[in-house]
Amino acid sequence: MRTQICIIGGGPSGLLLSQLLHLKGIDTVVLERRTREYVLGRIRAGVLEFGTVELLREAGLGARMTREGFVHDGTYIALQNRGFRIDFKKHTGKQVMVYGQTEVTADLYDARDGWDAPVFYDVQAVNPQAVDGDAPFVTFLQGGKVHRIDCDYVAGCDGFHGVSRKAIPDDVRREYERVYPFGWLGILSETPPVSDELIYANHPRGFALCSMRNENLSRYYLQCPLDDRVEDWSDDAFWDELKRRIPEDAADTIVTGPSIEKSIAPLRSFVSEPMRWGRLFLVGDAAHIVPPTGAKGLNLAASDVYYLYHALLRHYRDGDDQGLEEYSARALARVWQATRFSWWFTTTMHRFPDQSEFDQRMQETELDFLESSTAAQAALAENYVGLPY
Ligand code: APR
Ligand code: PHB
Repeated sequence: MRTQICIIGGGPSGLLLSQLLHLKGIDTVVLERRTREYVLGRIRAGVLEFGTVELLREAGLGARMTREGFVHDGTYIALQNRGFRIDFKKHTGKQVMVYGQTEVTADLYDARDGWDAPVFYDVQAVNPQAVDGDAPFVTFLQGGKVHRIDCDYVAGCDGFHGVSRKAIPDDVRREYERVYPFGWLGILSETPPVSDELIYANHPRGFALCSMRNENLSRYYLQCPLDDRVEDWSDDAFWDELKRRIPEDAADTIVTGPSIEKSIAPLRSFVSEPMRWGRLFLVGDAAHIVPPTGAKGLNLAASDVYYLYHALLRHYRDGDDQGLEEYSARALARVWQATRFSWWFTTTMHRFPDQSEFDQRMQETELDFLESSTAAQAALAENYVGLPY
């Protein structure tokens, strides 16, 4: 089998890249290790930068997102039982869209139904080969048979645990990592959100976040020790702890209910350079991971897709490879900016087990400055709504 772009990974990165290229008549094949149902069952973050919204609309996915998504002009930061608002629109003229990533992925899959753009599910032993030459190919197992796809380029959209990053030689690849000494315990509940906008809460007992999916589906998170297990947390224990960490007015009005999903996720910052090796291009979590505090995971995948999509267009339409040559440096420049912001926001909002009293005072003073400084709030707003592509 032959195609122009072989895409490894059928998550947001792989699907969005495939969709955009397909609309320009560029052939792709997507290889996905799991089933479609499994991929759609993943609960992930839910804040889309304005650039991501524009790209999804360009891929033909605007309808349901526009209908069901929530446009937010700002967010609340809470500390010591008080809160203040960061007004994105005032500082940047931009907004964000709260729309679950699960919905984005479902919309991407629905949009491609009926297209002649195959996704191979349940594939095993995917192996990108000869990517440093002019005739790359990818082999994989499906239904007990070995398959081969010859292609012009390979897009490694297979996430942090995928195979693509490791196709770049160890002596070429440089990896940067910070693992945070805590996790996020998240729940979904069919209850009305406690606030019209998100609440990021810094509390001596630990970080808390109040978010939402729709007017009757709320998403809440609590910072928890790395060795906590989901079964350690009853719903009542979760709600009691959440009420301790958010401002009283929110704690007094929050509507609680049974969790319909409960999970613990670790937090890390991770960047792998370069994001290109010959005819292999890494996209999204295959190349970088950010802690969810800044809601940058999906949004960084979108900017990687944007850069690679336009580079491939220039190659096939104009015979110009400058975009492909510049892809890694261009994508990494934005990746590092989002990595810095996500690291700063995580470090400022969470309690660290080894935190000294001085560290504690620095954190509180950082937030006092954020509350009092228009410039500091504008800086947070610029990063949160998304730096330019
Ligand atoms: N072969 C084929 N598919 C694979 C392989 C493999 N060897 N390894 C992983 N995959 C698939 C996974 O099953 C998953 O569906 O690749 C996909 C990668 O998807 P994500 O991990 O979601 O990464 P990405 O598409 O880059 O999404 C970026 O969106 O998922 C959110 O916030 C999350 O930051 C992440 C962002
Ligand atoms: C979410 O709604 O899941 C969410 C929102 C903002 C974040 C992280 C997660 O920073």
